[in-house]
Amino acid sequence: MDKIIIEGGRPLQGEVTVGGAKNAVLPVLAATLLTSGLNEIRGVPRVRDVNTMIALLTALGARVESFEEDRLVIDTTGVRQHEAPYDLVSTMRASCLVLGPLLARLRRARVSLPGGCAIGARPIDLHLKGFRALGAQIVLDEGYVNGKAYRLQGAHVYFDSITVTGTANLMMAAALADGETVLENTAREPEVVFLADVLNQAGAKISGQGTDVITIQGVPVLKPLDGRIIPDRIEAGTYIIAGAITGGEVEVKNCVPEHLEALIHKLQEAGVVLQVSANAIQVKPAGRLNAVNIRTHPHPGFPTDLQAQFMALMTLAGGQSVILENVFENRFMHAAELCRMGAAITLEGHTAIVRGVSELGGAPLMATDLRASASLVLAALAARGESVISRVYHIDRGYEKMEQKLSRLGASIRRVR
Ligand code: EPZ
Repeated sequence: MDKIIIEGGRPLQGEVTVGGAKNAVLPVLAATLLTSGLNEIRGVPRVRDVNTMIALLTALGARVESFEEDRLVIDTTGVRQHEAPYDLVSTMRASCLVLGPLLARLRRARVSLPGGCAIGARPIDLHLKGFRALGAQIVLDEGYVNGKAYRLQGAHVYFDSITVTGTANLMMAAALADGETVLENTAREPEVVFLADVLNQAGAKISGQGTDVITIQGVPVLKPLDGRIIPDRIEAGTYIIAGAITGGEVEVKNCVPEHLEALIHKLQEAGVVLQVSANAIQVKPAGRLNAVNIRTHPHPGFPTDLQAQFMALMTLAGGQSVILENVFENRFMHAAELCRMGAAITLEGHTAIVRGVSELGGAPLMATDLRASASLVLAALAARGESVISRVYHIDRGYEKMEQKLSRLGASIRRVR
């Protein structure tokens, strides 16, 4: 079990470049199953979840032609297997993204029902309701989703609540269905828009992406995918907060400020000095920040994936910050760990009350999920003394070379096996 050791209290200085978005590349990798040929995807981040998804596609019959640097060429001609093995799905919920493409391509799918995870039950009932609306027979047994569809028929699907991968899954299934599909109350995340754009570039007929109604005219076949993954807005936000929490001067490059409007506004409200340009955001030193309130919400609201990182920042702000987590039912695991560093946080259901303290102290810490881990790293960078963070495999799921990037910004951080 790797650990990360951080000696805190050093303002970060310098530039960091953001990689491709984990939550954009996972659906695009699943979408390669809709095609038969050589798919080329550039800007692929080297993170564990990408390796897991590639392993899953390979188990289904795809073949990695090459994967150098951030360019992946994957051949999906030989996709024959419709069963996604439990051991892969249980390590990554996003494996459920192969359901739509398998139903559309092979007319069959057998995917282990993703279990819950640390942040919540995370059911996929809305995905399954959508597939049934498209004419698929979906039967759950032995912890598996068994899907069959002679031919998917376009339909009108209303999502009871907004689901990012649910929207992606239905968009992929509808791309090869007969006729028109209208998806209502859809996710507007940039990663969903990107998936629609990549599918359209391969011959799909999708419109409305980025709004809450997406229309898909089914087509008989798609060309192999070819695209460059959009920058990871959550990685970008994490490094912006790293600059702010250490009182340093950090330029985050290769990011899309339009994808981070909610975070930018909240940071500025807190007194963080930001210089925003076309594809970079620079944080400059500011005095003690003011506490501000946030409530997470589907895009374009404040992203739930930056809630833990923002909470770390608020532990040192002047005053009281109220953080409302509207998306997941259990996404405050980082709070207890932050309190062990001296933070003053009380939890009341979906609300966290953070009373700013003047400093945090380093401590032995345990990561529980991907974004909670990032929150602990940020707090450790700002804390006086040494922190040792265990279970850092959570971090490796979604952050590429985090300790190298932070070291280059002047952090005292190292990984021990
Ligand atoms: C995606 O998860 C992201 N993962 C998550 O990022 C992100 O936190 C989440 O969207 C919200 O933005 C990927 O894109 C791979 P949802 P997803 O379906 O699609 C409930 C990270 O840290 N729901 O939008 O699984 C669900 O329980 C990860 O990178 C149902 O009830 O999230 C949750 O409370 C964590 N039934 C809410 O909706 C369903 O059928 C939003 O979930 C589907 C979802």
